[in-house]
Amino acid sequence: MLNEKMNGELSKQINAEMFSSYLYLSMSGWFESKGLSGFASWMRIQAKEETFHAEKLYDYVYERGGRVVLGAIDQPESEWSSALEIFEGALKHEEMISGMINDLVNISIEEKDHATNNFLQWFVAEQVEEEASAQAVVDKLKLIGDGSGMFVLDQEMGKRTFVAEE
Ligand code: FEO
Repeated sequence: MLNEKMNGELSKQINAEMFSSYLYLSMSGWFESKGLSGFASWMRIQAKEETFHAEKLYDYVYERGGRVVLGAIDQPESEWSSALEIFEGALKHEEMISGMINDLVNISIEEKDHATNNFLQWFVAEQVEEEASAQAVVDKLKLIGDGSGMFVLDQEMGKRTFVAEE
């Protein structure tokens, strides 16, 4: 069974993942409004992944006999000046989430909760991918600037599909 401290910290992470989903949906909406449907689709899938992360944590808490009390989700930003600004923001956000996952791992060690420590390793690996995929888009956007390459990149971004990795 989860102890109260670990239960509370995992619940906070559920909120952070739901906020991430909200943030990426907001980013998707910005791209939609600019006619960049490939980027919008990429961000929409990212938002789905974040909901999946939240549900993975949610299911784990109940599997361990805990209880989730859902809190309010903060309002995400909605205005950006460019695709690059959005992806730099996404990268910064993922780095912050990685820090939160690391803190959770530290707490699981302090609480001698090996099951939760083991569970969290999935998120540790996932965060490496999350940062790398945002960084890859930042790099491409810097490379192409604001020119016609955006059209090609938009098409490429639209090819992403949602995969719920267990
Ligand atoms: Fe759920 Fe993008 O971290």
